[in-house]
Amino acid sequence: EKECYILGIESSCDDTAAAVINNGKILSNVVATQAIHEQYGGVVPELASRAHQQNIVPVVHEALRKANIDKNQLSAIAFTRGPGLMGSLLVGTSFSKSLALGLGIPLIDVNHMQAHILAHFIKAEGQSAPNFPFLAMTISGGHTQIVKVTNYFEMEVIGQTIDDAVGEAFDKSAKILGLPYPGGPLIDKYAQVGNPKAFKFPKPKVGLMDFSFSGLKTSVLYFVEREVAKNPSFISENIEDICASLQFTIVDYLMDKLKNAVKTTGIKEIAIGGGVSANSGIRTALKEAESKYGWKTHIPKFEFCTDNAAMIAIVGELKYKNQIYAENNVIASARMKF
Ligand code: KG4
Ligand code: ZN
Repeated sequence: EKECYILGIESSCDDTAAAVINNGKILSNVVATQAIHEQYGGVVPELASRAHQQNIVPVVHEALRKANIDKNQLSAIAFTRGPGLMGSLLVGTSFSKSLALGLGIPLIDVNHMQAHILAHFIKAEGQSAPNFPFLAMTISGGHTQIVKVTNYFEMEVIGQTIDDAVGEAFDKSAKILGLPYPGGPLIDKYAQVGNPKAFKFPKPKVGLMDFSFSGLKTSVLYFVEREVAKNPSFISENIEDICASLQFTIVDYLMDKLKNAVKTTGIKEIAIGGGVSANSGIRTALKEAESKYGWKTHIPKFEFCTDNAAMIAIVGELKYKNQIYAENNVIASARMKF
């Protein structure tokens, strides 16, 4: 059998990424993170698009070099078609189309959200592939959803956020506390030495498996303003307890929704992905759920959790083996559905 090498390209948000996969194994996984957005406290779409244009050629070269293969050995190009920021998606899409055309090899379009889920099927040490059917919860700065996964290409969104993503709840709360962007990892760090029961934050009520986070951010703001009015050094004196209480509320909320999804579907195999999967609170809660509720849980390696091109490459390989290719006139799709 001929060796199959797929190049994956991801440019949906603020990371320019390229990866090469060969029979489920990642040969290279390169990410250029855009530091430019830090000073704005969030991603600025126009700046992201421009940075992708600067990064994409060097990032692809680096991925090929690290994989130790020549571009002429590639079997296909897989790229993120959507969902994401249009200006960002356009860079990866047009680059991938040109490269596939130039090399005369198939072009494969990939749904970013499906890729977060199928990242579990990358063959790597410390990763276990979930068994079908399973529930996937994708939690990051851009996404919060629960998906019922019946097969590689058969998935259904059964719950999602109606406003902010969970990562935004972490980052916006961190900003209110005066922590630098992105504040999620810092909240996690302080939370580990604080008292999770010190303060109480509300858990917003929405659909059984849906999420809402905008109210939480507002209640953090009012809470901090009220306390700081009484004691100007309230934040610095209580940062560990504030973070622990906030993280406890968010993790508990995520677990509530997962429990509802398990009850609704009868599926106890759970896979999580997205940057927030790095959170120590959610990791501990999921591990506990294995013995407490008999769940089987999967958390990918961190490099496959955050936005990356390895996950695009694995979907590319799965589609390539089933000869599911993109049309020549494929275009980026900011609101691409499953
Ligand atoms: O997947 P990702 O790298 O990018 C996208 O948003 O697509 O996720 C980044 C998000 C940020 O909101 C960041 O604060 C959050 O993941 N994050 C965390 C932790 N590590 C990253 N949130 C809470 N605890 C963490 N340990
Ligand atoms: Zn993502």
